[in-house]
Amino acid sequence: MQYPVYLQLSGTENVYAIQGPDRFWECTPLGAQTLCHDVLATTWPERQRILDMVADDGPWERIDRAAFEAQWNKGNCNMESTAIPLDVLEHVELAQYTTFGIEAKARWFAEVTSVDGLRAALDWSRSHGVEVFVLGGGSNMLLHGDVEALVLRIQIRGVEVRSDDGRHVEVAVGAGEVWHDFVMHTLDQGWGGLENLSLIPGSVGASPMQNIGAYGVEIRDHFAWLDAVRISDGSLQRFMAEDCAFGYRESVFKREEKGKWILVRVAFHLDRESPLRMGYGAIEQELQHIPEAERTHRDVSEAVIRIRQSKLPDPAQIGNAGSFFKNPTIPAKQAEALLATHPNMPNYPQPSGEVKLAAGWLIEQAGWKGHNRATHGVHDRQALVLVHFGGATGKEVWDLAQDVMKSVKAQFGVSLEPEVNQVGLQD
Ligand code: EPU
Repeated sequence: MQYPVYLQLSGTENVYAIQGPDRFWECTPLGAQTLCHDVLATTWPERQRILDMVADDGPWERIDRAAFEAQWNKGNCNMESTAIPLDVLEHVELAQYTTFGIEAKARWFAEVTSVDGLRAALDWSRSHGVEVFVLGGGSNMLLHGDVEALVLRIQIRGVEVRSDDGRHVEVAVGAGEVWHDFVMHTLDQGWGGLENLSLIPGSVGASPMQNIGAYGVEIRDHFAWLDAVRISDGSLQRFMAEDCAFGYRESVFKREEKGKWILVRVAFHLDRESPLRMGYGAIEQELQHIPEAERTHRDVSEAVIRIRQSKLPDPAQIGNAGSFFKNPTIPAKQAEALLATHPNMPNYPQPSGEVKLAAGWLIEQAGWKGHNRATHGVHDRQALVLVHFGGATGKEVWDLAQDVMKSVKAQFGVSLEPEVNQVGLQD
């Protein structure tokens, strides 16, 4: 038998982690508390309990480590001797953990469900002289090869209401929660603000890294603060909005502080009466069948979901990482010259005086939309998205990205920049 084995007593919230033939941990809720025990079972009847628990016909069901830890973390279980041991796996395939689905292996791999678990992983990496690499929702990265590091999958969960005055809510969320599930939860509670950001793939912890945005809203519009653990020493620090230096798909965590922090919790300001944002053309169009006064946050969310589903490939079906490129910003003079020859070119003048262009339009005009290289290509409904049908390497996808960038540069004189993080890119 492979230990640990995680179990739940059917019909109860009692969970167990069998550590070996003569040791198990037990977590049992008692009123508002959860009690955790480390039970040495070298003698009868405790030894028999273990045999009963792992037998196939008992009332115990197998659960996964995350389900056990969720219960364990509720309890008062911080005794050093019973800290959840770090389960470091070797040579783990990462395709299933990234939305691009490119095959690449992690030399070492661990899942962490708490700040303490994360610190244990950082200690492990230091004592083994191995770097850590954080995999959030894996929705914004292209792996160029195997990752010679301890790859951490952050599974810190939980949604906590920090304050609620009847209208405004401050809510703190574990970095490992799935972003879209969290957005759906906020709408179930009647909290407005994040509806335009529905269906963005990835985890809550990844959302501030690149200040995710869609349909006229960015995370920074509702951001309260975040907690992050410093990789070098395991210390926990709170970052307020001004500390994060948010920009268009940018934050301090992609720039000055890159690779130094692991985000563990993100808090948002939400508002039951926040105004609906329908300025983005397609949303208004989608909502035309509902009289303006009757529209809800949920309606906007549903409109966004319909628009995204009609244009963007579902990573569960076709590997992709959303927009592969950023929309470029160019000097006004250059935009004027381009508009003289391409009067239909979408262009968005910026407060800075510069002009933002639609990379998807440029790529489509350069003839790449729907371009297919058998294992990968350019999405046929949104040229900004590179897609992986299966069997491509990160390098092959990157070669395509470079061909696209060169061709847009040659045709329009505009340099595109990838929005997706390139992991292990050899220069
Ligand atoms: N366009 C084309 N051809 C294409 C794609 C777009 O001509 O193949 C044109 C559209 O017709 C439109 C303009 O380009 O006039 C802008 O396109 P769209 O409204 O689809 O938005 P986008 O600028 O391409 C950005 C974000 C998306 C986000 C949408 C909606 C970036 C890099 N991308 O795309 O974000 O969902 O706006 O707000 O800023 C992501 O980051 O992964 C992502 C999908």
